[in-house]
Amino acid sequence: MLRAVLLASLVTLPTATSARADVGGAVVPSPEVMKARSAIKTLADNLRGELIGALEAGGSVAALEKCKIVAPGIARDASSTADGFIVSRTALRVRNPENKPDAHERKVLEEFVMKMKAGADPATLDHTAVVIQNGATSVRYMKAIPMAETPCAACHGTADKLDPAAAAEVKKLYPDDEAIGFATGELRGAFSVTIKKM
Ligand code: HEC
Repeated sequence: MLRAVLLASLVTLPTATSARADVGGAVVPSPEVMKARSAIKTLADNLRGELIGALEAGGSVAALEKCKIVAPGIARDASSTADGFIVSRTALRVRNPENKPDAHERKVLEEFVMKMKAGADPATLDHTAVVIQNGATSVRYMKAIPMAETPCAACHGTADKLDPAAAAEVKKLYPDDEAIGFATGELRGAFSVTIKKM
């Protein structure tokens, strides 16, 4: 079971049973969170650049094929396993099953949804925790990804906004796709960074 210790300044996870604060007073070192934020920014900028370039060059179907090949590679490049530093994207409803959230990520995503229901702006939502699992400690950082109209809706939007050609191609490439039907401003997912402590 995951045992998470949350920073005093951050909210408690909704299911308190698996979030026991038994390493009291632990403080997440800010350099790690800064490193996580900067890796997320690089990944987001690179993804956006690739996506917009491909959309301009060949429309949504071309962008989609690019996405399938390029997105996981960009995430891998931003990660450094030697460093124990892993950057990924996840969501409660995923397109690629490899992006499914683990127990910790699911709890944080559900917490983001609850906070948004209470009026929080997803652009400001992030979460830091020190997680101890099987005796190993990691810093885990997550940042919410809001659903935007452009360019996201063509590939993730509600039926009226989806690009029909792209939607048909998504069905072929991702038969188990759950990542459509998002309204603008909803939570699309999150960037997730894990930094293993030696
Ligand atoms: C051209 C189509 C296309 C557009 C436009 C697009 N996406 Fe995606 N998106 C995809 C594909 C394909 C994947 C699966 C990538 C993979 O295999 O990891 C994906 C995956 C994701 C994931 C990872 C979780 C999952 O569902 O697997 C997130 C989060 C995401 N997209 C958010 C966005 C956001 C936010 C935007 C707008 C800035 C956007 N996408 C625009 C096609 C698109």
